[in-house]
Amino acid sequence: MGHQRQLLEILSDGVFHSGQALAARLGVTRAAVWKLIRELTGEGVEIYAVRRRGYRLAEPLEFLDETQIVAQLEASVKPLVSSLEIFQHIDSTNTYLTSRAKCGAASGAVCLAEAQSAGRGRQGRSWVSPYGANLYLSLLWRFTLDAGALTGLSLATGVGVARALQRLHVTAIGLKWPNDVWWQRHKLGGILLEFGGESSGPCHVVAGIGLNVAMPKGADQQIDQPWVDLRTIVGPGRISRNQLAAHLINEIIGAYLAFEQEGFKSVREEWERLDLAAGHPITLRLPDRNIDGVARGVDESGALLVETATGLQSFLGGEISLTLKS
Ligand code: BTN
Repeated sequence: MGHQRQLLEILSDGVFHSGQALAARLGVTRAAVWKLIRELTGEGVEIYAVRRRGYRLAEPLEFLDETQIVAQLEASVKPLVSSLEIFQHIDSTNTYLTSRAKCGAASGAVCLAEAQSAGRGRQGRSWVSPYGANLYLSLLWRFTLDAGALTGLSLATGVGVARALQRLHVTAIGLKWPNDVWWQRHKLGGILLEFGGESSGPCHVVAGIGLNVAMPKGADQQIDQPWVDLRTIVGPGRISRNQLAAHLINEIIGAYLAFEQEGFKSVREEWERLDLAAGHPITLRLPDRNIDGVARGVDESGALLVETATGLQSFLGGEISLTLKS
């Protein structure tokens, strides 16, 4: 185990440890401790340094733990998880599983990371991924359906994430088409689906979920829209990231199994209940133009319906900006 992880394990209790005590436990100099602290701070870990008292984490840290996650998987889901890997640092869990998929990794491969150095969001944006604070999870799923039948899967993934949050008693969750996870007009998380395989024939998806759990101060400076984390919603220390990860795996795999049988129909009504935009004026940003209109829900394939000056139109891609009047 590296010194960085060892140091974090000591600090994970959230109480002060003197530089001297840390140095003794790690078997390094105090200057080396200071350097490690600086490295961690640079990765977004929030550490308080107080003269004569030492160092402590802003709040206790629960490490991601395979045993704890697996213990909370449902009996019907556990056999479908072909592998579960947890990284301390990775570029992107989606990039990793996409390359594993190309090498033939089995359906049900799950990857989590404490930090991502190149976390990716939709529309080529980056995803702020500081260490130990939030949840970064990807799942590889192979479908026997061909790509054309998978429209609507991204909405089904959103429903799976909403269900996982509801199981943790996080209420008032809404989805902004296709699958942005919102809470009271603030973005709580996002979903990035990346498809691969044959255009007509079996294909696979890497579903990446990023949820803000306890965003450290400072890390948020790189986020360019209103956001919220679970700590703010339910209070500090109330969310177990391991439990959240297990619920996400349970609910997303559950949603995919139903999708394989019934398609988007399996979640359509639930999605409509979560739909934040329906009835509101929106601007849909497409690569080549913007569409203004009123959101009118989705059709049977999950395409967005927009009432425009020229009538009702449906869209499969694009990004909504939504103005909610209070
Ligand atoms: C969005 O833009 O709303 C989607 C964000 C998706 C972020 C997650 S974090 C885990 C996975 N790995 C990535 O690089 N991105 C997704």
